[in-house]
Amino acid sequence: MTNDQVYAAGLLNKALDPATQPEAIRAFLRAEEVLVRELVPRRGRIVDFGCGMGRHLIGLLDVVALGVGIDYEWTYIAEANRLKPDGPLHFLVGDATRVPLRSQFDAALCLTNTWGTMIDKLAVLDEMRRLAPETGTRLITVYASTSVAPRRQWYANLGHEVVEITDEHIRTSSGFVSEHFTEERLRSLIGVCAISIIGDVAYLAQA
Ligand SMILES: C[S@@+](CC[C@H](N)C(=O)[O-])C[C@H]1O[C@@H](n2cnc3c(N)ncnc32)[C@H](O)[C@@H]1O
Repeated sequence: MTNDQVYAAGLLNKALDPATQPEAIRAFLRAEEVLVRELVPRRGRIVDFGCGMGRHLIGLLDVVALGVGIDYEWTYIAEANRLKPDGPLHFLVGDATRVPLRSQFDAALCLTNTWGTMIDKLAVLDEMRRLAPETGTRLITVYASTSVAPRRQWYANLGHEVVEITDEHIRTSSGFVSEHFTEERLRSLIGVCAISIIGDVAYLAQA
């Protein structure tokens, strides 16, 4: 299967169940939420690329003026729309490489290694830059190479045994491919950006 087929089969629902997550992953997810909350502009207009079931924007509802989440998997968008509380949040089915929006945002998010599972990462980055044109307002979190051991355990807990590990990705028996990054590789793909480490297993790039 390809990543879109694996997502369509519901991988994210299981992955977000804390019972499946090794402690290092749980710690990263908690630290990521805190960091992103600190960094998004108060009362800002925020767009989330590969939003899944919308948990990041839903968690930021009290600090945003507008939140728009895009994901190509319609079942996740349906769930995001079911879960969202009243407020200025909108979840749309769409491809992150060709987002059907013209308005501008104060920040663009692509979190929890979503970028590291996207096929055309640079096209997604171009769209993030188009929609959030200010330097430093694009927030991307990805796994570091140090995440391989806990991810291997996590994916096994999800029923996706790891069959290949390279310097740049993990591949599972289902065909799911999840990348990881060094600071050098991140900079070579993103260009100028500020990089910080989150919870020992991930990076935040602010581009
Ligand atoms: C690792 S999951 C994370 C979801 C969400 N950001 C979260 O942290 O809960 C990656 C998400 O990206 C979506 N996705 C992957 N490639 C995409 C693309 N080209 N366009 C839109 N969504 C995409 C998948 O459907 C999936 O929901």
